This record gives sequence, C-alpha cells and structure tokens, in this order.
Amino acid sequence: MTQAHDQLVPVPDAAVAGTSCTLEQYREMYGRSIEDPHGFWLKQAQRLNWVAPPTRVGDWSFDPVRINWFADGTLNICFNAVDRHVNAGRGEDIALIFEPDDPVADVRKLTYAQLLEEVVRMAGTLLRMGVAKGDRVTIYMPMTIEGVVAMLACARIGAIHSVVFGGFSPDAIAGRIEDCASDWVICADEGLRGAKRIPLKANVDAALKKVSVRGVLVVRHTGGEIDMTEGRDHWYHELSQGVPAECPCVTMNAEDPLFILYTSGSTGKPKGVLHTTGGYAVWTETTFRYVFDYRAGEIYWCTADIGWVTGHSYIVYGPLQNGATALIFEGVPNYPEHDRFWRIVDKHKVAILYTAPTAIRALMREGDDWVTRHDLSSLRLLGSVGEPINPEAWRWYRDVVGKSRVPVVDTWWQTETGGVMITTLPGAHAMKPGSAGRPFFGIRPQIVDNEGKVLADEDKNVAAEGNLCITASWPGQARTVYGDHDRFVQTYFSHYKGKYFTGDGCRRDGDGYYWITGRVDDVINVSGHRMGTAEVESALVLHEKVSEAAVVGYPHDIKGQGIYCYVTLKAGEEPDDDLARELRNWVRTEIGPIASPDHIQFTPALPKTRSGKIMRRILRKIAEDDYGSLGDTSTLADPSLVDGLIAGRKNR
Ligand code: WT7
Repeated sequence: MTQAHDQLVPVPDAAVAGTSCTLEQYREMYGRSIEDPHGFWLKQAQRLNWVAPPTRVGDWSFDPVRINWFADGTLNICFNAVDRHVNAGRGEDIALIFEPDDPVADVRKLTYAQLLEEVVRMAGTLLRMGVAKGDRVTIYMPMTIEGVVAMLACARIGAIHSVVFGGFSPDAIAGRIEDCASDWVICADEGLRGAKRIPLKANVDAALKKVSVRGVLVVRHTGGEIDMTEGRDHWYHELSQGVPAECPCVTMNAEDPLFILYTSGSTGKPKGVLHTTGGYAVWTETTFRYVFDYRAGEIYWCTADIGWVTGHSYIVYGPLQNGATALIFEGVPNYPEHDRFWRIVDKHKVAILYTAPTAIRALMREGDDWVTRHDLSSLRLLGSVGEPINPEAWRWYRDVVGKSRVPVVDTWWQTETGGVMITTLPGAHAMKPGSAGRPFFGIRPQIVDNEGKVLADEDKNVAAEGNLCITASWPGQARTVYGDHDRFVQTYFSHYKGKYFTGDGCRRDGDGYYWITGRVDDVINVSGHRMGTAEVESALVLHEKVSEAAVVGYPHDIKGQGIYCYVTLKAGEEPDDDLARELRNWVRTEIGPIASPDHIQFTPALPKTRSGKIMRRILRKIAEDDYGSLGDTSTLADPSLVDGLIAGRKNR
C-alpha cells in the first residue's frame, strides 16, 4: 500500500451516500462512545427487545481477562431477529430471498411471518430430538434458508450453534464436534455449488466414524441418495410432523453463550471462539445499521457463507435484527457464467452488496463487459471484507460496478470481534482506496511496536506503522475460547499486557485512517479465509512419505495469498509431480478444499538455525520471489541450502 494511493475519494451525493450519520454526527457520537461508554451503549441497547433491560453495561478487564456486557439483562436474540418484527406488524415484510445455484430454478421468498413459522418448526423439532438449552449443535449446511433457520432455531431454544463451513472435510467436522462435545448435528443431504453436488451428509457420516453424537437432523435439499443410520439420523420433514405451532423463546442471560465458531490461529488446531448473547446482539444490530445505512424495503446481499463469521453477523443477526431483507445465494460467482453476481443484482434489484476482494479480483479479470451488460442502477452501497483490498480492485469495484456514484465501505474486523471495527461510514467519511478507514463507535485502536511501545493512539493524528491492538472492550468481543480460557488469554492478551492484540499489522496515516497491512503471525489469508500455516503443516506430515513441512503464504493475484509448502521426504522417497499432486489431494481430504496447497516445493532439508528453529523469514522471501532481501543467512546451520531453495523456486 503506497502513499501514492493515499488520496481521498469524497463522500458521494447525499441521495446515495447515506443518511445514517454525517461527519459531524460521527465525531460527536464517537466522542461520546469513548467518554461515556455506559450511556452510549445503554442507548444503543434500547433498540433491542429485552425481557429484563440491562442496567449494567461494559464490565471488563484485559488483565486478568474477564469480559461482560449488559450482564444483568435478559433477552433472546431470535426474538429480536424474528418475532418482534411480526409482533410490530411487519410480518409481511420479506426477510429472506433465496437465489438457488441453478439460475433458472425457483427463487424462494420468505416473509418475517413465514420465517417465524419455519424457525418455530425447526426449534420444536430440535426439542423433540432431545436438544436442550446449553447443548452444542453442529450445523453443516449449504447456503439455504434452512441454514439460517437452523441457527435461529438453536438461538430460540438456547442451544449453542457451531456452524462448520460446507467446504471442510470429515476430519475437520469430527475435530470440531469433539472439541465442543457437540451431541447434535444439523445437515442437508447435499449442497450445490456451480452444479457440483457437495456430499454434506456423507461427510457427516464419515466424521461420525471418529466421534459419536446423539442425533443428526437431515434436511432434504437436492433429494440425492444418502444413507440414514437408524436411531441416530432423522429426516427433518418427518420428525417435524405435528410439532406444536408455537415454541417460546427461552430467556437468556446476556452473557449466556450464543455460538461457537472455529477459526485458525498461528499454532495448534482451530480455536472455538465463543460469542455470548446480549453484547453480540447489540453489536451486530448497531454496526449493521450504521455501516450499511439500511433503508426499509431495500434488498441487501452479503455473498459470504453462514460458515464464516461474516455470514453470522451480516447475513443472519445484523440484517434480521434490523428487519432487513437479506438475499442468500447458494452458488458461486462464475456459474453458469462470469456475470452471475451482476445478474443477481439486476434480477433482485440489490441495493447493498457486501463481498470479498478475492471475488472482486476474480470478476475484474473477466472484463467489464460482464458487468456493463446488466442494469446495476439499484446499487446504493458497496462493501468489502475479509482481506486488504488492493486499490486497483477497489477502483474497479467503485467505478465499474458502482458507476463511480456509490460509497464503498471497506470493513476491517475478525471472527473474534463479532462485527465491524474499522470502516468508513457511508454518509460521513471520504474514502481512501485500500484503507479500511476510521474506528467504529466505541473502538479504541492503538498501534504498537514489537516491544509494545505505543506508536499511535486513536486520538492523535500521527502517522505510524506497527501492530494493531485494541485497548478497550466493545460489546461484540469474543469472551473466551470454548473450554480453554488460558488459550484465549495467551493468544490475544499476552503479547501486550492489558490490550487485545489482533494479529494484524497496520499503518495509520496523518488523517487518522487505518491501513491494514496483513497478518503479522503465522496465519495466512487465502481468498479471505483464515488459514493457520501450522494446520497445513500438520496435515502434510501425517502423510507417510513426508518427513517435515514448512508452509508460508505468498502473494497471489486472485486469492490475495496462496499456500506455499516446502516439503522434505523420508529417506528413500523420491520427489516427483505425482507425489506433489498426491500431497495436494491429501491436504484437501485432511482439512478441506479451501486448504489446497498452491505449490509444493520438495527440498532435501529446511533452513534451520543451529538450535533447530526453521527460519520462516527466508522461506517467506523465497516464496515471494524476493531474493534480494533474504537478510542474514549466516546463522543457518547449513547456509548452502539457500541456493538450492532459490533454484527450486525459480524452476516453478
Ligand atoms: C482477518 C480476520 C472479518 C470477517 C471475515 C474474516 C483480515 C478482514 C479485512 C479488511 C484488511 C482484513 C485481517 C483479520 N481482514 N477484513 N477489510 N482489510 N484485512 O474474518 O477469518 O476472522 O479473519 O481477516 O487480517 O485479522 P477472519
């Protein structure tokens, strides 16, 4: 991100730019959110329907780590997302629009009243199966209305959902079921993506050879052939027959768990990030309202999957709590052709589109014609999320898709933050292509160097570059790692005492805009999906021919980062293309297709220090094709290795 791009793109016309907040209001509200978080958040919380309204707001400490928000309040988030709109006479408003994978198959639209019926049916069925408050329910569903209904049904009865993305392997499902001791699974027979069938139930069956659960609820979606295990598996359309027409929302304490979502870190297996009810509800309701400036009747489309936090917060809880109409799309951007996204925008008259830079880059590459042949005049706001967006892609998004007339919000946040943390607000801020913008209400970012020295505080307009921390809690913050609070403390609060460390590098410019430069830990961001290099390494060394592996990220035109694997083989094994292919498939089956290595380089040894530590810095540089700045290689146990590694990289 160079200074050359550090230019302001003014706030567009008020007619399109947004009315949720002007710059004056942003300044005033941000100031208040920092000076008086109690008053500020109590007021925001009043937009929700509480059983017992909270009198307490943020009650937290980052050392020792203990986070509570609205702790004496009680509510149900499903009630807030569904019932209260029906009760307020908005039952005929459209809640969800389902656009199927096959562009000529039937679109399904569900009003809030119909959504309530569906959620009640699913909730009643879960109760009938034996699911109780506090139970963990694993959801492994395609992007369908039933996926959203499954989440809301869990929330309704106080069960904790753990959604596993449909692109994860049976092993990954098993690991996640085991980690949170989940007794229940909700899945579909199959999913569809670009006319390909995803064997969801078969994957669950394979996972359940390793771990056992009490019940599996199977939603019929494609009608494909699947196996059912007597006593354990139940068809949803059968078990739901005759469930009561009502199923009351269980009253939850604000700090009762709402969901677990697994995410990768720099070490070990994925962590079960835990979010609780009240703070998350307030955070997603508020951020959605301000960031997307939603106006009644508009069609809002977030292209994420419910398997990621973006889907949780900005397909399900944020939009529905605001009574919005959310479009959900089962398919992929390039099926049947490269204009599928633009066809959908035109067909449904989408006003707000929220997608990821990787999709923008992939579609940009196919040329403008795919876009310009469609009428995109319904668009009023564009959003980006998941990874830094390069200014070229930003400009294409705004100019070709948005016809240079709509605001673009580049929203920085994380699974752990529950919702948007840094962004411009559409009617308030000028934009800078490549910069996420300014902190949202209540967010106190701080940039520190590796020793923890503060380089830039949020209120001082000085430029600085370093590691991004947040110094005060916010309502949507994750509360712990499920079953392992020590790991939560170690991962996020031990680098810089008393601060939440994001794992991201960041530059702040003199205007107070934040530019995320990417992860500073051993996490890589592949197509907006977070991947621990350690996870890929552990998968590789499970292969019988592999002795050691080191995995790093490298710049990739479309994916943002690609997965580069250095592999050493056991004595007597010969490297060749077939083995490279075999290892690639191996990782796909171990973790899932999203972890497919982009490149495997065999090497007789890995570069290590004399004390045996792998020098990843060197491996990263070589993978990046950047040999000029390898730095000091003299501390390597065998410096001569480097030439071979470079030669291997160049042969690619
Ligand atoms: C990591 C979090 C946020 C939901 C989807 C990803 C990167 C995310 C941006 C952005 C630059 C971004 C960061 C962050 N990231 N959004 N707008 N600009 N980087 O959630 O899987 O928890 O990943 O994604 O590196 O730490 P996640």
